[in-house]
Amino acid sequence: MQIQNEVSLKSYNTFGIDVKAQKFVEVTQIADLQQLLAQTTEPILILGGGSNILFTQNFEGLVIKIKLKGIEVIQENEDFVWLEVAAGEVWHELVLYCVAQGYGGIENLSLIPGTVGAAPMQNIGAYGVEIREVLEQVQAIHRNTGEIHTFNNESCNFGYRESIFKNIHKDQYVITGVTLKLSKKPTFNTSYGAIQDTLKANKVETLSLKAISDAVCQIRSSKLPNPAEIGNAGSFFKNPVIPQSQFEALQKRFPNIVGYPLPEAQVKVPAGWLIENSGWKGKRFGNIGVHTRQALVLVNYGGGDGAAIRKLSQDIQASVLDKFGVEIKPEINIV
Ligand code: EPU
Repeated sequence: MQIQNEVSLKSYNTFGIDVKAQKFVEVTQIADLQQLLAQTTEPILILGGGSNILFTQNFEGLVIKIKLKGIEVIQENEDFVWLEVAAGEVWHELVLYCVAQGYGGIENLSLIPGTVGAAPMQNIGAYGVEIREVLEQVQAIHRNTGEIHTFNNESCNFGYRESIFKNIHKDQYVITGVTLKLSKKPTFNTSYGAIQDTLKANKVETLSLKAISDAVCQIRSSKLPNPAEIGNAGSFFKNPVIPQSQFEALQKRFPNIVGYPLPEAQVKVPAGWLIENSGWKGKRFGNIGVHTRQALVLVNYGGGDGAAIRKLSQDIQASVLDKFGVEIKPEINIV
């Protein structure tokens, strides 16, 4: 384990923002992580795949990049398999492994950037599936005591893009691994219209994990910019949830508005629709902007400044609030 000084974080965040970490270290062993947490007095930033973060300035402290690796079957029966996966595994590689092994449950979550350890943090979700549906346990180290805790599904308090690790336990734990319960006799989730359309276009007659994973990859590639080509962190904002009465009032003024009914007379409104209909989609300001095909995604065309992206996000929030009276909040961490 080697601590380096003044390291550029450009290749460690998918937005591609070129800020520096005062100190930087990669950890491959839990014991090393415990030692660092115990000894470090300066601020610490834990980094997974860097796919849900916007750096607006240099980080004056120690950045710890989690590189814990390993995928292990710890239990199985006729119907299910329990996989213990280390936090530093790349999420999409895990999905591909599971698809190849015939383990069902996360194929709809194909091509989500980032690492396994970050997945429970915001309960990653896409195309009708969230990780909470297959997550049995989260293993995490308490930052102050160095003790290893195991959280079961219920105690993670999952919600839409939410977990206990973002709320009451914010910055208190480092996730080191997860246990997933996957199905050997999968039922396929094709509830999302775009998946059905793509399967049809691909002339898929017999559903399989691979057919679904391929369809999801196709949909994502067609809508979302590839971070290897254009810097971005996926959805910048969460989809706001508003009272049904407010949605109905908006519908009178904006008949094309999109909304998905939720329990308790609430409606989830796609922030992408609100942003597009406030005139931001595809807008470019120098080397940053709003993606041309998905207004929910802010992009860095190269050499962009994180603080300028934050300012753009604030301008978008203000204009959506002004036009629709709806507050949209960032989904990503701004540092
Ligand atoms: N829409 C627009 N304009 C846009 C974008 C979207 O009008 O520029 C409308 C679409 O027409 C559609 C609706 O918004 O009716 C929903 O769009 P989409 O299916 O693309 O999904 P989303 O709500 O924009 C969410 C997740 C994505 C996830 C997709 C698919 C959030 C914040 N985002 O996006 O997650 O891939 O659903 O399930 O919940 C991510 O978190 O980084 C991410 C990409």
